[in-house]
Amino acid sequence: MADTRWGFGLMTFFTFISFYLSLGSCLIAASLEDSIAQQKLDKVHNLPGQSFTVDFAHYAGYVTVNEHSGRALFYWFFEAAKDPDSKPLLLWLNGGPGCSSVAYGEAEEIGPFHIRPDGKTVYLNPYSWNQVANILFLESPVGVGFSYSNTSSDLLNNGDKRTAKDSLTFLLKWLERFPQYKERDFYIAGESYAGHYVPQLSQAIVRYNKATNGKAINLKGYMVGNALTDDYHDHLGQFQFMWSAGLISDETYKLLNVLCDFESFIHFSSACNEMMDVASEEMGNIDPYSIFTPSCSANASQTKWLLKRRHMVSQLSEKYDPCTEKHSEVYFNLPEVQKSLHVLPEAAPSKWETCRYVRYFCILKFCHLPTVTRPPDHLALSLYETYSILFKGCIKYFDAASIALIK
Ligand SMILES: *[C@@H]1O[C@H](CO)[C@@H](O)[C@H](O)[C@H]1NC(C)=O
Ligand SMILES: *[C@@H]1O[C@H](CO)[C@@H](O)[C@H](O)[C@H]1NC(C)=O
Repeated sequence: MADTRWGFGLMTFFTFISFYLSLGSCLIAASLEDSIAQQKLDKVHNLPGQSFTVDFAHYAGYVTVNEHSGRALFYWFFEAAKDPDSKPLLLWLNGGPGCSSVAYGEAEEIGPFHIRPDGKTVYLNPYSWNQVANILFLESPVGVGFSYSNTSSDLLNNGDKRTAKDSLTFLLKWLERFPQYKERDFYIAGESYAGHYVPQLSQAIVRYNKATNGKAINLKGYMVGNALTDDYHDHLGQFQFMWSAGLISDETYKLLNVLCDFESFIHFSSACNEMMDVASEEMGNIDPYSIFTPSCSANASQTKWLLKRRHMVSQLSEKYDPCTEKHSEVYFNLPEVQKSLHVLPEAAPSKWETCRYVRYFCILKFCHLPTVTRPPDHLALSLYETYSILFKGCIKYFDAASIALIK
């Protein structure tokens, strides 16, 4: 499984072809009263396992992005802790494809509520980005987290083009529901495979604004970290990192470079796939995202051992918990948690997962078939072109830091 190794956060590509602007017709301008009423319905009042009060409001729910097929994207939105009216709005996207922004962005990285090891209680993350911005976590595309489609074939046809289109529709409709954010400075940030989502959505917004001669979304800038940008160079960098950190042998490093040269992160050849398995085996139980910290083991005995060890070095372990994903998986599957977040029982996945490996694995397999059967928007191997278009459209691009800002 190519994506369970260490690249899962990364992967795929394609070109940004015709960007439709058929969106306008499906957007029904909501009245202010409707908006306020819907905001009230989305407001989260009691988060289970929260034993402290917070001085910011938060909201969760769905925005329908396609009425016809019944596609709806799930969001969780946090107002800034102080003076939200003066703070920008930031959209956060995790990658995969298939990984949840609620699981990683919110519960493990930049969000205010992190989950304790009991899987039942939450604590306040003092470094939450809602100290400085209003943050909107989006689970995208459909099939990820609580986002769903009532047309099952949608789940087999996820791709960058539709992800960008649906995300743009989501934003336009979300701003109808939260009109107080309409003129607000807007930023998009994300990591890993969002190295595709972020510039592609930025481009869609720029195009939409241009086509409608307005500033429906006041996009100021975007930022990507650990971004999947260009399959060739991403592979090269990944192999060099593994080798230089002593995680794989010289021989494996050489063979990876030969067999996976110019391979897509999603369209692995079987030879490259086998070599990645060898590399994975050599690397052993090391977390490639954090090679000097303990990794989380699913093994009961190992977990116990780790827990024991953590007890002894409690100072360190309080700060670094390698198993946060596991706690999220317990917490967000609790019926009372789903209820508090307004998850529709009839649309909820039978099991909420931090990353939907299987679904995307299907797509990976699908992509191994002859080119003609690939989803048409899974074609390009590099995002350089999209970046260069954005750059030409007045965008500052900081290559070294993988950060780009619109002037
Ligand atoms: C999907 O179907 C469920 C069950 O019929 C319904 O409650 C929900 O509103 C539908 N979602 C959309 C976006 O149409
Ligand atoms: C998990 O435990 C089993 C025995 O219960 C052992 O054979 C296996 O090697 C362990 N896996 C890891 C990753 O430690």
